[in-house]
Amino acid sequence: MDDDSARPREWDAGTYHQVAVPHQGWSDEILERLTLRGDETVLDLGCGTGNVAERLLERLPNGHVIGVDGSAAMVQQARERLPERTTFVHADLLDLEVEPPADAAVSSATFHWIADHDRLFARVRAALVPGAPLVAQCGGRGNIAGIVAGAEAVAAHEPFAPYLAGWPGPWNFAGPEETTERLQRAGFAVQNCWLADSPQRPERIRDFLGSVTLGSHLLRLPEKLRDPFLDAVVEQLGPDPVQDYVRLNIVASAV
Ligand SMILES: C[S@@+](CC[C@H](N)C(=O)[O-])C[C@H]1O[C@@H](n2cnc3c(N)ncnc32)[C@H](O)[C@@H]1O
Repeated sequence: MDDDSARPREWDAGTYHQVAVPHQGWSDEILERLTLRGDETVLDLGCGTGNVAERLLERLPNGHVIGVDGSAAMVQQARERLPERTTFVHADLLDLEVEPPADAAVSSATFHWIADHDRLFARVRAALVPGAPLVAQCGGRGNIAGIVAGAEAVAAHEPFAPYLAGWPGPWNFAGPEETTERLQRAGFAVQNCWLADSPQRPERIRDFLGSVTLGSHLLRLPEKLRDPFLDAVVEQLGPDPVQDYVRLNIVASAV
């Protein structure tokens, strides 16, 4: 199981596309930081069902989006939804290869699912022309602390403990200091890198936790324990739970 957890997991793309409402606001926020002429080729790193790519296409009347994602189901949905001026590739970002290199890269809600940020940023740098902007956002230091604590409290007890107790979780919630250093080492100039609170109250919290936040937890559990685990975490969070997101924002450019 540990070997598998180093690789991207499959996602329930259909449910994700319905519940990923916070992600729409985050995409708008990120793309406001990107200046485009309209004829570029732009990478969407961890494209999911194409939420960011769809917005990018509006800004690229003569351009192209290359979306890359580690989930085959996500890539299939993105291809079906956005057939024009796009290329969607099923690949691990840690093995990213783009030839010829692209003019810009964006990423939303993806980098915190990847443990090795040094390798990630090196692969992204190699996929870009010099001067290309990288505008990204992901979960950062302190992200969803309340949900992490709730999941840990449930995981510590039977019948879930044999599968989850002591597991640090799938996330890499980095801070701006180490991220700036890593980006610079990979060959980026960093214009800005910062944390920002972004609390959310998704309507379908159970579906959201199951298809997004705790998807990797569920995969470690036998099938018959998955629903009981989700029920227990939702109960642990109490009525009207807030998803206490902290986003790590990146505005950089390839040197
Ligand atoms: C929360 S979704 C975000 C999707 C999209 N950017 C959006 O805003 O809706 C995170 C995505 O990152 C992808 N992902 C996670 N780790 C990955 C990796 N190592 N390589 C490629 N994709 C990865 C997942 O498959 C998933 O589609």
